[in-house]
Amino acid sequence: MKRPAPWPRRLYAQLTLALLGLFLLVALAFVGLMHWSSSRYSAEVTQRLNSSLATYIAGREPLLTEDGVNHEAMSELAHLVMTINPGVEVYLLDSEGRILDHALPEGSVVRQRVDPAPIRALLSGKAHPPVMADDPHSPQGRQIFSAAAIKVGGRTRGYLYVGLASEEYQTVADSLRGSHILRLTLAGVAGIAVFGVASAALIFGVMTRPLTRLSERMARFQREGLGIEAETTHGDGSEVAVIAHTFDAMRARIDEQLERLKETDRVRRELISSISHDLRTPLASMKGYLETLLLKEDTLSPEQRRQYQEIAHRHCDRLTRLVDELFELTKLDAGRVTVHWESFSLAELLQDVTQGFMLEAERRGIELRAVTADGRYPVCADIALIDRVLRNLIDNALRHTPAGGHVEVTLSHGERGVEIAVADSGKGVPDTELPHIFDRYFRGSAASDKPEEPGAGLGLAIVKRILDLHGSRIAVTSTPGSGTRFSFPLPSDRAA
Ligand SMILES: Nc1ncnc2c1ncn2[C@@H]1O[C@H](COP(=O)(O)OP(=O)(O)OP(=O)(O)O)[C@@H](O)[C@H]1O
Ligand SMILES: [Mg+2]
Repeated sequence: MKRPAPWPRRLYAQLTLALLGLFLLVALAFVGLMHWSSSRYSAEVTQRLNSSLATYIAGREPLLTEDGVNHEAMSELAHLVMTINPGVEVYLLDSEGRILDHALPEGSVVRQRVDPAPIRALLSGKAHPPVMADDPHSPQGRQIFSAAAIKVGGRTRGYLYVGLASEEYQTVADSLRGSHILRLTLAGVAGIAVFGVASAALIFGVMTRPLTRLSERMARFQREGLGIEAETTHGDGSEVAVIAHTFDAMRARIDEQLERLKETDRVRRELISSISHDLRTPLASMKGYLETLLLKEDTLSPEQRRQYQEIAHRHCDRLTRLVDELFELTKLDAGRVTVHWESFSLAELLQDVTQGFMLEAERRGIELRAVTADGRYPVCADIALIDRVLRNLIDNALRHTPAGGHVEVTLSHGERGVEIAVADSGKGVPDTELPHIFDRYFRGSAASDKPEEPGAGLGLAIVKRILDLHGSRIAVTSTPGSGTRFSFPLPSDRAA
């Protein structure tokens, strides 16, 4: 038995988890982007606000003269500025970026030179802030800056390079400044994520519910087999609804086929038990006579011997007839007989059938007549099956009519096609037996009066099933003492 999948393996849980993962990724990317853009923003603001700082310092006193660097002025100004703002460092560079002077402790400056390209780009106004240049404090570091060109005799001889914030300082400052925004952003993203995932879980739950129900019903069907109820509604035409509908149809079909199988099996069992019962009686009787013949061979008179042999022979006949009829009825009951419709002359068929019974009729002293008024009576039916119907009816009529009587088969045109009537002048069927004569295995008093006659009570059951297949109904009227009349119609073939 298959248990339902644990929660994390259910479809809706997987969808929710996938969405949660996606949300986290997007949130991380968003926070990263926020952080990067806010630090750039703060760098840009700092650089723009301090853009004139270097020009202002350089304008206070000439730091470079024809004689060289004015160390005294430089040291004084640098100290002043760095006292006011400890985050700021002042350097004097030559036109190639070499550091000429600064007021920082010895050993804290590790670079000899600052790349002048970003300085020139900022001064020319071609670069947009924030522009980064080398940080003399670290071999790899970069920082935002303010710069001014120092001209001597109309020519640029160097730059006043003011580092506004080293990268390290910038990062600390950024995170301090941004921490509040960062916290707010994170809280906002987390809130959106929680709301989004919770509502997605709800929506996925509702959307996958029909699928969950269907899989539960399928599992129940696998477990319990038949008898599970069908879905009363077939949903909205979605794929799941179509699958559910198909599943129900398939299940109903399996139910139906199983029921049919059970019914066939029941019929087969019944048939086997009644066949074995029917075969046992004549077989036992035949065996009894044959044993008597063998055991008492010496004591039996020739007449007795002849009589026993005749009885055994009759039982043999009866068995053959029984097996034939059972075989035929079983085929009819199992629906394995199909009607091969064809057009033929019923008058000709009747002639052939009555011809076959002539000797038997003579032996019984009965007059057998076929009344066809010289017509052909073309009908559309299965010739082999109708042959069987005629033979069963004539056989019955001959067997239940005493010597001196007559059996007449009449063809006539009626409202429903060709009417066939088999009438005899026999002793008839009592009213109480009339409703049962078409039942399987029914043998009336007329038959039981003559135990020597073979018969299993199947002839009329076969007749009825064949006529059912042709869409025809057989009618019977009987007057005890004066005769019985069976009649049925067959569709006439007008084209013939
Ligand atoms: N023409 C008839 N006249 C009087 N009784 C009849 C006539 N035809 C049928 N019956 C009664 O109906 C019963 C059923 O007939 P049915 O042909 O089914 O069985 P059966 O003739 O006894 O055996 P079989 O299986 O060999 O035909 C007969 O046993 C008989 O009692
Ligand atoms: Mg019969």
